[in-house]
Amino acid sequence: MSHEDFPTESPAVVTCGLPYANGDLHVGHLRTYVSGDILSRALATIGQQTAFVSGSDMHGTPIAVNADQEGVSPEEFALEWHETYEETFPKFDIEFDNYGNTHDETNTAITRDIVRTLDDRGYIYEKEIEVAWDPIDDQPLPDRYVVGTCPYCGETARGDECDEGCGRHLEPGEIEDPKSTLTGNPAEYRTREHKFFRVSDFQEYLQGFIDRLEGTSNAQNQPREWIEGDLQDWCITRDLDWGIDYPGDDEEADDLVLYVWVDAPIEYISSTKQYTERVGAEEYDWETVWRDGDSGGGEIVHVIGRDIIQHHTVFWPAMLHGADYAEPRAVMASGFVNLEGRAFSTSRNRAIWADDYLDTGFSTDLLRYYLSTAGSFERDVDFTWERFQERVNTELADDVGNFVYRALLFATRNYDGTPDADVSEEVEDAIRDAMAEFQDALNDYSLRRAGDAAIDLARFGNEYIQRNEPWKLTDEDPDQAARVIRDTVQLVKAIAVLLAPFTPEKAETVWSQLEEDGTIHDQHIEACLEAPPETFGEPTELFEKIEDETVDELNEQLAERVAEADAAAAEAAGDSTDGDDVETDTTDDDESKPMTELEPIADERISFEEFQELDIRVGEILAAEPIEGADKLVRLEVDIGVEERQVVAGIRQLHDVEALPGTRIVLLANLEKAELFGVESNGMILAAGEDADLLTTHDDAEPGTKIR
Ligand code: 2FM
Ligand code: ZN
Repeated sequence: MSHEDFPTESPAVVTCGLPYANGDLHVGHLRTYVSGDILSRALATIGQQTAFVSGSDMHGTPIAVNADQEGVSPEEFALEWHETYEETFPKFDIEFDNYGNTHDETNTAITRDIVRTLDDRGYIYEKEIEVAWDPIDDQPLPDRYVVGTCPYCGETARGDECDEGCGRHLEPGEIEDPKSTLTGNPAEYRTREHKFFRVSDFQEYLQGFIDRLEGTSNAQNQPREWIEGDLQDWCITRDLDWGIDYPGDDEEADDLVLYVWVDAPIEYISSTKQYTERVGAEEYDWETVWRDGDSGGGEIVHVIGRDIIQHHTVFWPAMLHGADYAEPRAVMASGFVNLEGRAFSTSRNRAIWADDYLDTGFSTDLLRYYLSTAGSFERDVDFTWERFQERVNTELADDVGNFVYRALLFATRNYDGTPDADVSEEVEDAIRDAMAEFQDALNDYSLRRAGDAAIDLARFGNEYIQRNEPWKLTDEDPDQAARVIRDTVQLVKAIAVLLAPFTPEKAETVWSQLEEDGTIHDQHIEACLEAPPETFGEPTELFEKIEDETVDELNEQLAERVAEADAAAAEAAGDSTDGDDVETDTTDDDESKPMTELEPIADERISFEEFQELDIRVGEILAAEPIEGADKLVRLEVDIGVEERQVVAGIRQLHDVEALPGTRIVLLANLEKAELFGVESNGMILAAGEDADLLTTHDDAEPGTKIR
């Protein structure tokens, strides 16, 4: 890989995290896939040779557990979901060049080959470890077959990940108070022999890698804690029937399969190889991309959800490096999509499913645009139909739709198409600036900025028409009228080319309204400045506005869904606390709270300059965990735009610690550092009153924005 700006001479591959083949897709999943698709289309637009690949994640306990519950074989179960995904993605114009699956022959062969290489090179060793076991059913309980308490943060966790708490990957044997998820039986630990990958051998390499890595700042910063700390070796086998068998003729390993996280990312390579097998190596050569030859491989960009950063920035690059494969150039880790501030819960139907969206009848372009440009990529977004409506109606319908329709209608009615005139310097400059911004945004891995380049050009177009009033000029100054309309038709074409990765269907409509040849999706960015056809017919409107009544109906359906899910959650919480001490939480009971006595305003005034000395910033909580031994304290990781901070706050008993990530807060950034319970606190989050009501912002102020 070159680390030069895109487009580079080396081929690129954009990959998307593999969905587990075990259930319906929702808009949270789609945020990643839509973004990967847009990135790959946009890179191609600027002339970067790019393949876009992914596949279904078929193995591991997520599949085995669900297949068990349905009484079918894991293979049958996973293949059915795999086929569903193959049908679902194209409905959202997510067009992979290859979409494989981890169970296919290519992936099985490459996985076994990589593991064999790592083994031959001494990176794998055997060790006896304690694994969770169901003593009644007499069976091992790997990963999702077991739940218990995370030893790091005390939250309920799965066998291999603390999914509801600190997000750490957990090794077999680490989880405390294990219970079987199948039977509820308390588990015991038994000694078994397993294979370990010496991640610790790669510490120095990983330190260099993380400094080189491009992409979103969460992917660059979050892994430092692990890479710079005490790197643990990684257990890469499981006592399970479903998966890829450990390679070789090691009898001890006969009944072991590889941990799902070994073969899953290897599918990125396998899927690229399958693409080459289809199109031929002259067109796209997977080995140039993935082999760590003299060129150091191609431009590998992983688009993932923020929960799997550790796998992609620690285990995966170590595996690649150990087996002479090229390292990723960038990792873009997207935030989650939440509902009313809380994560989707697929098991409780607290989600907006892909099919729900298709049922609305809205163009999938609208969702693509909304999901890929909603706030900063790495932050969680709250899905609301109002915000969706607002962005569609203003940015797509008003800014883009109106301009395109007005410009093309005027052109066709007065000139039967593009008038014979030159594009003005002002408009050419505006288009060139938008093209440069688009390219720059991609190099900065910012889809939002790339999308804004197109929308801003449409805003400029609207203002340009308004300012030049061509309807007056047709009689008064026909030559000038022709020049203005020539300009606006060129702007329409440029907007369509820049928007094509985001809204492929609507951009193609504009392309055919202009009666251009071929498809817009084969155009290079330079097409923004190429003359549109001399003649074309009357346009139709591109975007319909979303009515308030439609939003009301969608909200009603959603409110019902959330209420049902919350009731199910409350019931489950009730069940799980049976017999336990239940804490009485009075914090929601506003009406019964006595009025607090208000403190008088301080007598002494401070100057404006003194106030300005306070550096107060908007921030967003990225992670939160209780501090061991301190009942009131939590350790927070806070993004304040310019950097990430560790802050200790006394809010543990006043807030649901798990729900804190994603919360916008206000932070006093230049407070002296302090140490509390051995943990450094670098700033103070501002909160009101005894209940520590967290101060927040209510609009689009980005983390890092200064409060004045
Ligand atoms: O977390 C998940 O949903 C996994 N199936 C992602 C795998 S991505 C990869 F690296 F293969
Ligand atoms: Zn944890």
